[in-house]
Amino acid sequence: MKRHFWTREKVQQLDKEDPLHAYKSEFHLKDGQYYMDGNSLGLLSRRAENYLYTALEDWKTQGIGGWTEGQEPWFYMSEKIGEMTSPLLGAEPEEVINTGSITTNLHQLLATFYKPEGTRTKIIADELNFPSDIYALQSQILLHGLDPEEHLIRVQSKDGYTLDEAEIIRHMDEDTALVLLPSVLYRSGQLLDIPRITEAAHKKGILAGFDLAHSIGAVPHTLDKWGVDFAVWCTYKYLNSGPGGVGGLYVNQKHLGRKPGLAGWFSSNKEQQFDMSHQLSPSSTAGAFQIGTPHILSSAPLLGSLEMFNEVGISEVRKKSLKLTRLMMEMIEQELSSFHFQIMNPSEDDHRGGHVCLVHKEAASICKALKQESVIPDFRSPNVIRLAPIAFYTSFEDVFHVIHVLKDIMINEKHKAFKNERDIIA
Ligand SMILES: Cc1ncc(COP(=O)(O)O)c(C=O)c1O
Repeated sequence: MKRHFWTREKVQQLDKEDPLHAYKSEFHLKDGQYYMDGNSLGLLSRRAENYLYTALEDWKTQGIGGWTEGQEPWFYMSEKIGEMTSPLLGAEPEEVINTGSITTNLHQLLATFYKPEGTRTKIIADELNFPSDIYALQSQILLHGLDPEEHLIRVQSKDGYTLDEAEIIRHMDEDTALVLLPSVLYRSGQLLDIPRITEAAHKKGILAGFDLAHSIGAVPHTLDKWGVDFAVWCTYKYLNSGPGGVGGLYVNQKHLGRKPGLAGWFSSNKEQQFDMSHQLSPSSTAGAFQIGTPHILSSAPLLGSLEMFNEVGISEVRKKSLKLTRLMMEMIEQELSSFHFQIMNPSEDDHRGGHVCLVHKEAASICKALKQESVIPDFRSPNVIRLAPIAFYTSFEDVFHVIHVLKDIMINEKHKAFKNERDIIA
């Protein structure tokens, strides 16, 4: 492949040709700051802000009337956001609902789909999985009176950063009830082959569920085509819903109509919910997997954010995201080769998500030095610097700048002024 030598002029040319360039001004960016942490908490857009104000205005002016008479009626907001999210997932609107958090949604879907029977009692996950998912899996196994040590299989990684799909598939057998894996690994940014894993699981009569935390809003999905059984995600990362923004879940059509494992009155068919019957009539859509009253103020920003995704189309977002991370990797090689960094995300487009995973033994102190220089990275203990250039609000020139800031830190050993250990949140 032809290698560029990247100069400021060349990256400025990429910005000129970028169809998403104008969207940067839609976001609240701090002057002089280079935000590379949109894979942890995305930034606020003006449209998201406006929809939040609309919800507040409806509350201010209409009180309880906001549920049905608001400019964006609260009673239908979760379904509307589900519908707006469905193009990002390759799903039908009725398969998607805006509700809960990853962990609560995982509990809901495990309570619904994990039915250990006979020998089929095991769940396959992986040793690199996000802790909260593992805790949820462990507690669901315990709720069935089983021992997580025996019934939760964590597929090992050979290098501590990535997983081998063949190895995952090798663990699938007649004892397996379900596999639950991330689409993109939160540390290394490896994008797993979801269709391959799903197909292999189904061949063995195993259900396949995915945590899309690090792919939704960065990578297109075709969940229906792939036949994925269920999925969960958060919206505060690439979907820019704000801190604690309401997450989402997907249940494949073939499973709609199943009783929710954890029921509540918002699981109801909407026409019957206010009959106040003690006999639940569940919604025929993914709405059945809601539990209680939706968190309107933490959902409303998504109306604005998803509007932008649907305007642009997720494939355009992905195209730019791949170009940004490619540029970042090439610049790291070009500028930082003498400083002992290792790029641990897969380099192929088909296998990497939306961030670059840079490994260094002094990662914690380097991150602190970056912050001092107004670059906001993300540190994952013990040695990972995650850098996420975001298609909507990062320019190619921003990437150029960030790598030069990093080079300056290394040349002048600015990181040595900081302790190489994590802060309370990292
Ligand atoms: C991959 C992954 N899974 C699960 C979680 C936990 O999500 P929540 O706090 O929304 O339940 C996170 C949070 O960052 C995550 O990155």
